[in-house]
Amino acid sequence: MNAEPCTYVIFGATGNLSRIKLMPALYHLDVAKQLPEGTRIVAVGRRPWDQQKWLAEVRDMIQTKVKADFDESVFQSFSQRLYYHQADIQKPEDYKALADLLNGKQPFSRNIAFYLSISPSDFGTVLEQLSVNQLFDEELGWRRVIIEKPFGYDLDSAQALQKRISHYLSEEQIYRIDHYLGKGMVQNVLVFRFANVMLEPLWNRNYIDHIQITHSEEIGIDSRGDYYNGAGALRDMLQSHLLQLLTLVAMEPPVSMEAEALRDEKVKVLKSIRPIPKEAVHAHAHRGQYAAGTSKGEKVKGYLQEDNIPADSVTETYASMKLYIDNWRWRGVPFYMRTGKRMAKAQSTISICFRHPPLQFFRGTNVNCMSPNWVLLGIQPDECIKIEMTVKEPGLEMDTRSTTLDASFRNHDEKAIDAYEDLLLDVLKGDRSLFLRFDEVEHAWRIVDPILQTWAVERDYIATYPAGSWGPEDSRLFDKDSQFWRSSLTPECK
Ligand code: BG6
Repeated sequence: MNAEPCTYVIFGATGNLSRIKLMPALYHLDVAKQLPEGTRIVAVGRRPWDQQKWLAEVRDMIQTKVKADFDESVFQSFSQRLYYHQADIQKPEDYKALADLLNGKQPFSRNIAFYLSISPSDFGTVLEQLSVNQLFDEELGWRRVIIEKPFGYDLDSAQALQKRISHYLSEEQIYRIDHYLGKGMVQNVLVFRFANVMLEPLWNRNYIDHIQITHSEEIGIDSRGDYYNGAGALRDMLQSHLLQLLTLVAMEPPVSMEAEALRDEKVKVLKSIRPIPKEAVHAHAHRGQYAAGTSKGEKVKGYLQEDNIPADSVTETYASMKLYIDNWRWRGVPFYMRTGKRMAKAQSTISICFRHPPLQFFRGTNVNCMSPNWVLLGIQPDECIKIEMTVKEPGLEMDTRSTTLDASFRNHDEKAIDAYEDLLLDVLKGDRSLFLRFDEVEHAWRIVDPILQTWAVERDYIATYPAGSWGPEDSRLFDKDSQFWRSSLTPECK
């Protein structure tokens, strides 16, 4: 598929996402000569800025992100693509001027991608007004809409939102973004599984003891208090990114790598997840909130002391959960997932723990423990694939130890592609394979809804953990004493 020129219209262009992700990603695509000639970027914002002020803002966004790699001549040519359009998204009359701008003479392409980086509560209004102003008519070019997560707040609100947007758009026009799917290593999960025959025969309940997915962050909530306090870790990370990772690890081989085939298989996984009854939520999910502590050697505030957080908030900044996939391949294998802010280390890893061999011949040697085999898929910061095996120590005794086979695919000096670069380009190609279909979102909400509902009424207590730690004690989640959270990519024993 070829990337076609288009006009990117970004709603919320002056916000945090645009600053840290979107504008730097578009700049990088330009540096890499991937943005087709004729691509323009229209920022829609409420602030009364002129073109000069906008260019100064974008320069700052990019310089802050790329630092020493900033290239003045590339920026000069990139800035030719940039426009600022002042509009209040709440005011219907402001959309007419936007339509006039986009429908006017050159330089704007008739292919338009609208990027909604705004509060979900505004999605409906914006889409309605774009539709009223005929901006979704595809007579002269394609019209696509990229919708940031969270898609809804729970199952009911997601369904209501979908109902509303389907008045204005066909499913082919909707690009529900989950930026995790744009990460190189996440895509490599599919290659690792389906381009190698060695592991696939073992990739099932007969050989795998359990699977765990960890996304931990050192950062707190920065300036996102308003959003975060209404969301919490379960909605912010588990319902979206982590469940997506689970589908890729657990899915059956698709009939092809086409968008619909991939999404069909992902949905089958989500549908096979055993529902968590409300009375069993405590056995399947844990939550916690960070208290003051230390991060990277510095003292940091607790969640309740952060800006815009009510003093009695019980919003979780850590969430963990256990799921079972009741299908032929995975029945009985627990999938453990956890995520948290202000944790000891920033990392995203999928860890697959294999069963022990049927007989432990080497027990009693002077190693500390006998590790089973693990496959570790490091998503970030290190993109790597590691397989832990047991080998004999050199020497006269039959001592054993764990060793790691490293199948990492990217050298350290090779630049990682930011997830947004990949996804923004896919929109220009019309490739929706890394975007979510509504049924994926719907089933993901169905899975977490009982937990959300239980936590919403249990408001008198939430466990805390010191900032800079591995989160609250939640080992009750594990089915067996031998299971424990992995926190590194080097061999570990309980
Ligand atoms: C976002 C969440 O979707 O993902 C953030 O809203 C989180 O809270 C972020 O920090 C993590 O993404 P990444 O790419 O920085 O690991």
